[in-house]
Amino acid sequence: MVVKYQHRDFLLKGLKMTTNELKEKFIKFFQERGHSLIPSASLIPENDPTVLFTTAGMHPLVPYLLGEKHPLGNRLVNVQKCLRTDDIDEVGDDTHVTFFEMLGNWSLGDYWKKESISWSFEFLTKELRIPVEKLAVTCFAGDDNAPRDEESAEIWKSVGIPENRIFFLGKIDNWWGPVGSSGPCGPDTEIFYWTGGGEPNNLDSAENCNDWVEIWNNVFMQYEKTSEGKYIPLKQKNVDTGMGVERTIAVLNGKKSVYETDAFLEIYEKVSELSSSDDEISKRIICDHVRASTFLLGDQRCITPSNVDQGYVLRKLIRRSIRKAKKIGINEPFLVSLSKIIIDQYSNDYSELTENQNFIEKYLGLEEEKFNKILNDGQQESFREIEKISDVNEIVNVAGIEVLRAAKISFDLYQSQGYPMEMFVEDMKEKKNIEGSLSEKICEDVGRLISTHQNVSRKGAEKKFKGGLSDNSDDVVRYHTATHLLNKALREVLGDHVKQIGSNITPERLRFDFPNNSKLTQEEIERVQNIVNDVVDKELPVNFLVCSHEDAVSCGATHLEGEKYPDQVKVYFIGDSLESSFSKEFCGGPHVKNTKDIGHIEIYKQDKIGEGKMRIYARFKS
Ligand code: ALA
Repeated sequence: MVVKYQHRDFLLKGLKMTTNELKEKFIKFFQERGHSLIPSASLIPENDPTVLFTTAGMHPLVPYLLGEKHPLGNRLVNVQKCLRTDDIDEVGDDTHVTFFEMLGNWSLGDYWKKESISWSFEFLTKELRIPVEKLAVTCFAGDDNAPRDEESAEIWKSVGIPENRIFFLGKIDNWWGPVGSSGPCGPDTEIFYWTGGGEPNNLDSAENCNDWVEIWNNVFMQYEKTSEGKYIPLKQKNVDTGMGVERTIAVLNGKKSVYETDAFLEIYEKVSELSSSDDEISKRIICDHVRASTFLLGDQRCITPSNVDQGYVLRKLIRRSIRKAKKIGINEPFLVSLSKIIIDQYSNDYSELTENQNFIEKYLGLEEEKFNKILNDGQQESFREIEKISDVNEIVNVAGIEVLRAAKISFDLYQSQGYPMEMFVEDMKEKKNIEGSLSEKICEDVGRLISTHQNVSRKGAEKKFKGGLSDNSDDVVRYHTATHLLNKALREVLGDHVKQIGSNITPERLRFDFPNNSKLTQEEIERVQNIVNDVVDKELPVNFLVCSHEDAVSCGATHLEGEKYPDQVKVYFIGDSLESSFSKEFCGGPHVKNTKDIGHIEIYKQDKIGEGKMRIYARFKS
């Protein structure tokens, strides 16, 4: 039996407010203002096959935002369990999590900006006692689809936010929704809390913007984005707000990280007790992934690990937490004992966790056993193969592409036994003492083998379903080609310092990391998008040639600096000839044949991911 932490335990640990207190205060505040409490919906959206998970409190309310009558009236409040996997690689830093709780209040065609903003201000300054000096807000700067939101700015001023703490930003920052490719959306006003020392910076300057933490987002949902990409006014004007529980609790308690709040305290202590390492990031990843997995298995819709859709994400979360556990010296089964902590901590608010406790434990146990077997068998085979490598830099040719022999072994082990590349790289480090640059090259080459393999499977699938069913791999290939265009467009708009320092593609979106000192302005974003979409409209062919590494560099093809390439490389160019091409890059492929196959894209999010490093996200425009 897990002994629950009592309020005084948190106070002893220096926490001023607990998660439960914040949730209770929020609900009570809005109930007193006529809002009905609605239960948290499932993590799996109903009637929305385009999105895997519920990512915000408004998601289950889409029909009501579009005008359906809600049985509990037109003012609602709740705490919604949410899951976002977009930034899964960032989990373990101070702010990123996959599973989180979101507080929200809604007006379904009832009150509008004045009440929404005044109540937010009152809740933050009176109930949570946040000093006004620590707050700043942003409002929508306006574009072709919707006007500049002077109205919200005026209301903020009238309640007490000084003019120099009100900033206007473009669509990328101050517009929310739709969740999928179409649905309700609108301009928003976001509320930030200053966590830095000294005098707060301007929110529109990139420097130090990490010290401003967004805690609440009030969306004024008055538009519907149609599947043709048009914005039409909704029948009713709605308010949709969202406050991240973990993040808000962290700032209220003066904690730098969400992992230092009571949401993670108990599970984190247990992981630390089991582990023999001080690898902070791995511990946090285990805490996050076990919490998310427990909620997925224990969901109303009881997800089980599998190789598709939500089940695939669940499997990935479980397996990743097992890998991290091994890394920090946890070799005994641990998932069930950690999930008990989560179930106990959250069972008051989510009774489905207790109802499904046996189910949760059964599947965690089974998956742990299964994956441990894969790891043990795979590792034996991996060690045998590594023994046979005499030169770690040896290159082999696999179906026309040159890769490290180690990468080929890793790929084969993954294909035949599911043995993860990450484990193989660890084995190489242990047995062959390889350096960081070589492990990166192994990973990259495995990635190339995987994409070539997917391309072959895709072609097979296309043949099988003559008519050409579009499958996930198609979208990945489209996004991959779009990444080439984006790379070039960013260089044109921002300068030659732009180069790819990271890229990640899922069937839903592409992500691109590059050096830049500040976030892009709305105007820069539009210029980049226009350049890419113009090239799409020009219907340029996508070709490649194989040439010597030297020739490829001298023709100006973009490549990763410091990267080791084989003597013969593949250069993909977009245009009729290499000389007249829009972009040329060293790349293994696969790509679409013509830019028209990509379709238009839009940049929908950007983040600063470190000093001088930016990340943008883009998806297909509907
Ligand atoms: N739906 C809005 C958000 O998730 C409130 O930020």
